[in-house]
Amino acid sequence: MRLKQPVMTRRQALGAVPALMTSAGLAACQPNIMSEKKDVTMSAKQYTQPLVIAHRGAPGYLPEHTAEGYDLAIRMGADYIEPDLVFTKDGHLIARHDHYLSTTTNVADHPEFADRKTVKDGHEGADWFSEDFTLAEIKTLRARQAMEKRSHATDGLFEILTFAEVIAVAQGRTSMQGNPVGIYPETKLPSYFESLGYDFEVAVLGELQKSGWGKPGSPVFIQSFEDGILRSLRGKTGLPLIMLLAEAEGVNMADIATYADGIGPSKALLVNKDGTSSGWVEAAHAAGLKVHPWTFRSDQLPDTFANAQAEYDFFIDLGIDGLFSDFANDARAALLARASRSD
Ligand code: G3P
Ligand code: CA
Repeated sequence: MRLKQPVMTRRQALGAVPALMTSAGLAACQPNIMSEKKDVTMSAKQYTQPLVIAHRGAPGYLPEHTAEGYDLAIRMGADYIEPDLVFTKDGHLIARHDHYLSTTTNVADHPEFADRKTVKDGHEGADWFSEDFTLAEIKTLRARQAMEKRSHATDGLFEILTFAEVIAVAQGRTSMQGNPVGIYPETKLPSYFESLGYDFEVAVLGELQKSGWGKPGSPVFIQSFEDGILRSLRGKTGLPLIMLLAEAEGVNMADIATYADGIGPSKALLVNKDGTSSGWVEAAHAAGLKVHPWTFRSDQLPDTFANAQAEYDFFIDLGIDGLFSDFANDARAALLARASRSD
């Protein structure tokens, strides 16, 4: 019989991240930020734009897609939290970046699941896959930090969340800017899951309706790398849709604008090799599309930037409307510093 997983209190969990990242640390910082207001006059736009989207929660500090990570990201300044979604065997949506489970969970430590390890088309090597596990089985797993060089202090402690549970983390929360914290779900591999008989559109819209966030005006963006599901969703929901883009080839802003409200490009697509703007932001805006690039990682800065603030400044200058960051605290700090310099 397996030993019961140790339960870590929220206080213990947050002890694993730097002191400034705790609510106490943030609370201590905020009066200082605001007391400097005598020297600056921040307009609402400068203070709130671009949107800070907590990419997979707060994976710079805690395992991705966990309640503890999402909660930390909100308290560090996120406007939206981002769950990537895949299906379980019994049709539940869970928050995982990949349908293979070895890199972000402790499934390998569960001998009762050893025989589920298998090889599938489209994935290199053997692994465990979400669609081979019921939600009850998934709930016996615990999350682990995906990146080797980040802290593994809380590996094995936090649950895997359903989409409904992610929504519940956000609902009722207020951002540092005084707005409702929103969610930014991504449908992962919709064609693949459709081939297995799962329906992402029904599942995602169903959960949103149940939560009361199915109507236009709710703090929700729906994103995908596959245009097919977005084109289909366009006829079924008034919620904003974001077309994710990893490559420049074949991109047609006018076409995207027929079914989406914005693009989520790799940030590399916004910059030429010589460091100048690629013109993508202007082209997207001309087509009426918002621009939310990914992924800002303070611990993996491109060589061209001396520090995280320099990178954020560069992209803010390009005119982006939002950004995905593994470090919501650094994104928020950069925006605040930026706003205080602007006036
Ligand atoms: O969804 C925006 C960004 O997260 C896309 O990259 O692979 O981290 O989901 P990925
Ligand atoms: Ca994503």
